[in-house]
Amino acid sequence: MCGIVGAVAERNISNILLEGLKRLEYRGYDSAGLTVIRDGELHRERQVGKVQELVNAVEKNPSFFEGKIGIAHTRWATHGEPAQCNAHPHVSGKVAVVHNGIVENYAPLKEELIAKGYVFTSQTDTEVVAHLIADAYKQTDNLLQAVQQITPLLHGAFALGVLHVDHPEQLITVRLGSPLVIGIGIGENFIASDQLALLPVTNRFMYLEEGDIAVLTKDDITVYADGEKVARDIKELDAEHHNADKGEFKHYMLKEIYEQPDAVARTVEMGINQQGFKADFLARNEAILAHIKHIQILACGTSYHAGMVAKYWFEDLTRLPCSVEIASEFRYRNPVVVDNTLMICISQSGETADTLSALRDIQRRSKAGEINGFASLALCNVATSSLVRETDIFLPTLAGVEIGVASTKAFTTQLAALMLLVLKIGRVQSRISDDVFNEMIVELHKLSGQLYSSLSLDQAIAELSEKFEARKSAIFLGRGVQFPIALEGALKLKEISYIHAEGYAAGELKHGPLALVDKDMPIVVLAPKDSMLDKLKANMQEVHARHGELFVFAGENTQIESDERLHVIQVPDVNEILAPIVYSVPMQLLSYHVAVLRGTDVDQPRNLAKSVTVE
Ligand code: G6P
Repeated sequence: MCGIVGAVAERNISNILLEGLKRLEYRGYDSAGLTVIRDGELHRERQVGKVQELVNAVEKNPSFFEGKIGIAHTRWATHGEPAQCNAHPHVSGKVAVVHNGIVENYAPLKEELIAKGYVFTSQTDTEVVAHLIADAYKQTDNLLQAVQQITPLLHGAFALGVLHVDHPEQLITVRLGSPLVIGIGIGENFIASDQLALLPVTNRFMYLEEGDIAVLTKDDITVYADGEKVARDIKELDAEHHNADKGEFKHYMLKEIYEQPDAVARTVEMGINQQGFKADFLARNEAILAHIKHIQILACGTSYHAGMVAKYWFEDLTRLPCSVEIASEFRYRNPVVVDNTLMICISQSGETADTLSALRDIQRRSKAGEINGFASLALCNVATSSLVRETDIFLPTLAGVEIGVASTKAFTTQLAALMLLVLKIGRVQSRISDDVFNEMIVELHKLSGQLYSSLSLDQAIAELSEKFEARKSAIFLGRGVQFPIALEGALKLKEISYIHAEGYAAGELKHGPLALVDKDMPIVVLAPKDSMLDKLKANMQEVHARHGELFVFAGENTQIESDERLHVIQVPDVNEILAPIVYSVPMQLLSYHVAVLRGTDVDQPRNLAKSVTVE
C-alpha cells in the first residue's frame, strides 16, 4: 500500500526521503515521487516503476532537489492507473500533498472544485485534497487552519503529508485511519507510514492517534486533536527493530524462512519454560480469559489461515466453540456475536483496514450494550500498531520485522502464540488436563529443533521445484489441521510465482477438483502420520488412478512409496497437533524456489502489498 515519507531539517533531506521510500518498498507500490521546497518553489519528480527509477531521475540533477523540507511517496494505484500523472505528490498552486488511504467522497468534492475553476491533472482522489487545502488557504493564509478546515470534509481512512511554499518551515500531517508515525531527530523531524523508513535517521518515535493533526518544524512537534493541543507519548526503539537487512540471503523471504526456528523459539519462550507457564504470561488478563465462552477469530490473508488452524486447536483441546472468519466478510454481514465472546484479531502488521474495522464495529455494539462480556485480543507482530492500541489484550508474535510481502515467520510465530493462548485459556478454565498440558509443553520445546530439520529439506525442494516451473496450476491437499496449511501453501505459490493454485480439504477432492486432475496437474499433499492418514491415502489413490502427479510431504513411517508419478519428501517427525507449524516450512520453500526459477519479484510480488491499509 502507499507509503509516505516527509522531513523538515537544517540539512538537505532529499536522500533521506529516497532512502525512506526504499525502506517502504516492501509495502507494494507501482510509482514513486518526491517534492522539496527550494528557493521558494516546489521541485517535484515522479516516476512509474521502482523507487530506483526515481533515484536515477533525481541523480541527473541532484542540486535541483536539494531542500530542507520535503515529502515523498510510493503509490499503490486505487483511483487511476499507475502513471506519472497519478503519482504523488499532487500539487495545487503552492500546496503539495502525499496521501495514503482513500477519500471515498472524492467525486462530489471534485465536481465542486471543478465548478470553482480548479483544473485536475490526475484521476486520483488525492488531487482533491491538494485543491481543497489550496482553496481553504486562500481564506486563512494559515496552513494548519486550512488543513483543519478541510479534514472533516473527507470521508474514508487516510494519512496525509502537506507542504506549502510560503511556509517552508512547516510540515503538516494528518492521521485518520491509515498508519503514520513521527520520527524525532535533533534539530530535524520526520513523518513516515512505517518507522522502518526512518531508522537510518532516528530511533525515537511519536505515535499519533486517529484524527490527530500535527505540525512539524525542525525543532518542534505540535499535535492537535479536535483543534486542541495534545501530548502524545514518545518511544525509543531497541536494536532488534533495526535488523532489516538481507544479510547473506538473496531475498528477504528466504532470510525470514530461515529465521523461523529462532522466531518460534522466542515466541514459545515468551509464554512457557520447562515447568509450565511463566508467571507473567497473560497474568493480568486471567479474569477475562476465565469468563469467555466463545472465541471469534478475525483476520485476512495468511493470518486468516493461522486462525483456521487455531479453530481446530481451540475446539479439540478446550472444547470451547471457536468461529473463524475473513474480516472483510464478517464486517459487512451483520454477524451474531454471543455474550462472553473473546474476539481474537490476528494480524502481522496490526494495520489491516478490514480487520481493524471489523473489530471497531463489534466494539461499538458492545459499548451500546448489545453484547455482554465482550473482550478483544490482538495477536500481532507490531507492538505499536493501531490494532494493539485498540484491543484489551495484546499477545505478541516475536517474529521481528518481516519485509517479504509473502508472510512466513509471522505465520509460524502466530501459530506458536495461538497454541500458547489455547493452553492458557484451557488451563485457566480447567479444560485441559495436567497430562495433555505437560505433553504440549514438552512438544512446544521441541518445535525449534524440528523447524531446523525441516529447513534441511531446502536443497531437495529446490530440485523438486523444477517440476513446477512450467506448470499453469497446482492443487494442494490436506486434511484436518493440515487443511489450512494446504490453503496457505497454495496462497504462497500463487502470491510469489503467479502459478494458479488452490488448496482443498482432501475429502472435497471428489466433489469437484478431481475433474481437473490429469498428467499435467501437480498435486501437493500434506501427509503427516496422524489420525487422518488412511483417509488421505485413499484420496491420493484417486489422483494416482487418474495419472495426476503427486508431491507428498510425508511424515516418518507413513509407508507411502515413491514411484514415477509420486514423489515423497520426508518431513521430520512431529507431534500431530503441532505438525501444521513444521509443515508450513516446506510449503514456503517450495513456493520460494518455484518463484526464483520463474524469475518473479519474490519479495515484492506484482499488485500485492505487505500492509493492506485500505479495504
Ligand atoms: C496482505 C499481505 C499478507 C497478509 C495479509 C494480512 O495481503 O500481503 O501477507 O497475510 O495482508 O495482513 P496482516 O498484517 O493483517 O497479517
